[in-house]
Amino acid sequence: MKFVSLVASLVFSASFTAAAVLQQLQAELAPHLSQNDLISTISPPRWSSFNAPLPGAVVNVQTELDVATTVKYLTANGIPFLAQNGGAGWSSSLDLNSDGVLINLASLNHVTFNGDKTQATIGGGSSISNTIAQAYAAGALVETGTCNCVGTLGALLGGGYGSLMGLYGFGVDNVIAVQVVTADGEFHNVTATSDPDFFWALKGAGPNLGIVTSAVVKSYPTTQDGMLAWTGTLTFDSSQLEEVVEAIQDLELQPDMNLFMYFISSGPPANEPVILVRPFLYKGSVTTGRAAFSSLYAVGPTRDTTAVLPYTQWNAGADGFCTYGARKPSYGVGFQKMIPSTWREVWNSYVEFQKKPTAANSTVLLEAYSLTKARSIDPNSAAFPHRNVNFHVIAIPWYEDPSLDDQAQAFGNAARDLWRATDQLAQNQTYINFAYGDEALEVVYGDSLPKLREVKRRLDPSGQFSHWYNIV
Ligand SMILES: Cc1cc2nc3c(=O)[nH]c(=O)nc-3n(C[C@H](O)[C@H](O)[C@H](O)COP(=O)(O)OP(=O)(O)OC[C@H]3O[C@@H](n4cnc5c(N)ncnc54)[C@H](O)[C@@H]3O)c2cc1C
Ligand SMILES: *[C@@H]1O[C@H](CO)[C@@H](O)[C@H](O)[C@H]1NC(C)=O
Ligand SMILES: *[C@@H]1O[C@H](CO)[C@@H](O)[C@H](O)[C@H]1NC(C)=O
Ligand SMILES: *[C@@H]1O[C@H](CO)[C@@H](O)[C@H](O)[C@H]1NC(C)=O
Repeated sequence: MKFVSLVASLVFSASFTAAAVLQQLQAELAPHLSQNDLISTISPPRWSSFNAPLPGAVVNVQTELDVATTVKYLTANGIPFLAQNGGAGWSSSLDLNSDGVLINLASLNHVTFNGDKTQATIGGGSSISNTIAQAYAAGALVETGTCNCVGTLGALLGGGYGSLMGLYGFGVDNVIAVQVVTADGEFHNVTATSDPDFFWALKGAGPNLGIVTSAVVKSYPTTQDGMLAWTGTLTFDSSQLEEVVEAIQDLELQPDMNLFMYFISSGPPANEPVILVRPFLYKGSVTTGRAAFSSLYAVGPTRDTTAVLPYTQWNAGADGFCTYGARKPSYGVGFQKMIPSTWREVWNSYVEFQKKPTAANSTVLLEAYSLTKARSIDPNSAAFPHRNVNFHVIAIPWYEDPSLDDQAQAFGNAARDLWRATDQLAQNQTYINFAYGDEALEVVYGDSLPKLREVKRRLDPSGQFSHWYNIV
């Protein structure tokens, strides 16, 4: 009885705080925004519901100025807040509660090009699918991530891996100017010359320093042929794992190539765990694609869906991975070498977890890119610290039933420990956008941490941006 009333009063006080925040914002902030009806209690969807932020109110900003007005107000009133773009971030550090406010950037989805299409201005809430659709219409390529649902700038601000990396470097290597609102609610148009340290820090740790309302990035005008790639999936079964792993290790990715490997369900009703490889060859044909990935073909895929696809379809194969909802506490790791015995052990723990009720869509995702171009760029030009890392992988337990949380975390931790045990790195390194949330700051920020601390002290002295691998 006592327990029940305690729970009831906790629930009551949480909803009371939420109602108070909502009322305060309606009265004091709403009149200063571009429209009077931008404050809501409905959170935009998130990719993972595990540890998702639970704000008391949502501000659906419509203009870049709305962002500045909102941040200035929230900071002045000591109200915690967090920006949401694509909502794909799964970090356990995204801990906004009912006394906090979510700033939904989704309406800032403009993408425009300059006259010769060598520069694109991308809104702080533009999804990758939206950015690609606009770029395709303009006849230009923009370096984005490989999943349609993700926020273009959400992915870029952590580093930005994507299909065109071999040609153009990381997302951060393509940034020209960043329009950002800092904790005091002021706009800064940050470039390499306007504020070199801030510019450097935004490129790897952006979400820790402000809200980017738009960014100018390089774009690459091209012809119809320049908007085609050969890609798709090759299916392998469990017995072929070691051969697949060795073929990936031995493959020298050229600048126009990249490759993903998935452990994934074959789909209902059987939901058998299978191995998929997704090869990608920019401007490839069936002939050149098969030649470039001949070592994978030699292993003998049981199914092949590869085809030549237009720019707007390159990410289509990953749309299943983009499904929102369900619990997905995910564990990322960087490592240097594909080791068959490590992968067999990870496969065994994956298969064990994937057969649990509601967990069939669990997956493991390996990403391999051509890094020659990215490594030719001055490593000190961006805070992003992982240019030396050859491979990134994420273990993604994906399930509905919260009673599986402990087993999901046990699987994710076990997979992460296995990869790390043979990572061949001097220290653990995890791409910030693939991290679980419990990593030491050195693991995600590497050697950039001391200088990031200085920039953080200058631009966010009271620590308003504290929900994304908080730099302290
Ligand atoms: C299905 C899927 C596919 C992915 N594919 C790739 C990939 O191909 N390449 C890659 O590099 N990464 C990839 N990632 C990782 C992805 O980059 C991170 O999850 C990233 O944090 C997602 O950004 P978001 O805007 O979608 O998420 P959100 O959850 O909205 O944001 C994540 C964090 O970034 C902050 N943030 C977002 N936008 C801004 C902004 N405009 N200004 C300031 N802060 C901002 C948020 O406040 C939050 O702290 C993928 C993730 C998923 C789930
Ligand atoms: C920021 O600076 C860049 C580069 O000088 C410029 O192209 C861009 O228009 C500026 N953005 C704003 C909003 O002033
Ligand atoms: C797995 O994903 C597919 C496609 O999104 C969906 O139809 C199916 O219900 C999911 N399975 C489980 C067990 O959640
Ligand atoms: C890397 O992380 C693992 C745990 O996953 C830990 O056991 C190991 O000591 C770490 N290595 C270094 C060099 O910090």
